[in-house]
Amino acid sequence: MAIQNVNTNFDSIKVSPEWCFKNVRSIEQWTHGYHRYPAKFLPNLVKKIIEDYTQKDDLVADFFAGCGTTLVEAKVHGRKSIGVDINPVAELITKAKINPIDPKKLERRFKFILNTFDDFNAKEYSKIDVHDRIDYWFSKKNKAKIAFLYEKILTTRDKPLKEFFLVALSHILKNCSMWLQSSTKPQIDPDKEPTDPFVSFKAHTKMMIKRNSEFFNQLSKDDFLKTECEIRLEDARRTSIRSNSVGAIITSPPYVTSYEYADIHQLTAYWYEYITDLQGFRKNFIGTFYSLNQETESDSKLAQEIIAKLLKKDKRTAKEVANYFKDMQAVAEEMHRVLRKDGHACLVIGNTTFKNVKVKSAEVFAEILEALGFELVEIIKRSIPHKLIPTIRDKKSGRFSKLKNKDSKLVYPEEYILIAKK
Ligand SMILES: C[S@@+](CC[C@H](N)C(=O)[O-])C[C@H]1O[C@@H](n2cnc3c(N)ncnc32)[C@H](O)[C@@H]1O
Repeated sequence: MAIQNVNTNFDSIKVSPEWCFKNVRSIEQWTHGYHRYPAKFLPNLVKKIIEDYTQKDDLVADFFAGCGTTLVEAKVHGRKSIGVDINPVAELITKAKINPIDPKKLERRFKFILNTFDDFNAKEYSKIDVHDRIDYWFSKKNKAKIAFLYEKILTTRDKPLKEFFLVALSHILKNCSMWLQSSTKPQIDPDKEPTDPFVSFKAHTKMMIKRNSEFFNQLSKDDFLKTECEIRLEDARRTSIRSNSVGAIITSPPYVTSYEYADIHQLTAYWYEYITDLQGFRKNFIGTFYSLNQETESDSKLAQEIIAKLLKKDKRTAKEVANYFKDMQAVAEEMHRVLRKDGHACLVIGNTTFKNVKVKSAEVFAEILEALGFELVEIIKRSIPHKLIPTIRDKKSGRFSKLKNKDSKLVYPEEYILIAKK
């Protein structure tokens, strides 16, 4: 379909200041601050998309829901929503964030858990066998305390309550482990003095309790407590969302070989027994460094050009990128299936550079959407606040590295918001 009125020359598009939220420090309002999550949406961005592109009765969907930013904002705006993510840790975090709990009930249970701390017997809990990776990341002392906390939380019968405390514990795992605190890569910090699990759990839960109350009170006031909101542990390439049922999709797909979500969430995944090995866990993530690497072709002309350039430089990278575009094609088809006529797909996506080849993911996605019959109605360019810019990765080792390394890539100081109508 020919595009009218929309500038599709991505390089010439000017940054839209009203989409940069420069003076907004970080909105950790509502339940947004329950758990750290890499490449998490800025809530203000989602809020603006909801206000600009959705109607009151629209069902809002996020195909890469992550820690549920879209769903939380949808609920605050009284929109029904549904999220999909392949990561069970994302599913858990989102469940806790979208289900406000009666503050009195929450306080009671919190007191009960805190009171059990007096019963803690280090000897008894230090013998617990979880996984050898847990022994790798935690000191014996902290492992025993976490095992104790986990056991006490699991005695909670009420599901939303249990999920709330599991998220609190999940969030503090990194602080209580030897994991290099400032890093998203799995790396031991030999000089780290991990925090005490009981102290961290108490402090973080207190903050969450405060946020839950604000969320609960706001939703009660607006009569949105019962607004439907659901997260499904599914693959974005084939969801169980009903055809033609969605008014707006608001999502940000994973970037190609950027964050390894499976690796990043391994502490929670091992403790909560979501996984027994990392290999299997990594498999279904889109954009992973560990993808199957079978593709060298794409239906998109632009994607094919990028792949051809990369093939001349590095075959493995070329295949990874081709694989990524193939996955994006499948996701775009799925988006088309679930959207109702005139519904909007709003995608936040950035470009990357590998081996001096610009991987124009946003342009490729736009081309894929058009080929499927979507009409591009707006392309917005925004600059990303400094602190949200992911660091540099070494393409050979997959590890984060210094800029001067010639195999490194600098990623997305700017990104695009594609608005496409079915
Ligand atoms: C950029 S993050 C989304 C973050 C989200 N916008 C938020 O605010 O938390 C991308 C997400 O895609 C998920 N993901 C990767 N492969 C997937 C797949 N095949 N199906 C569904 N989700 C997937 C990852 O687990 C990750 O949560």
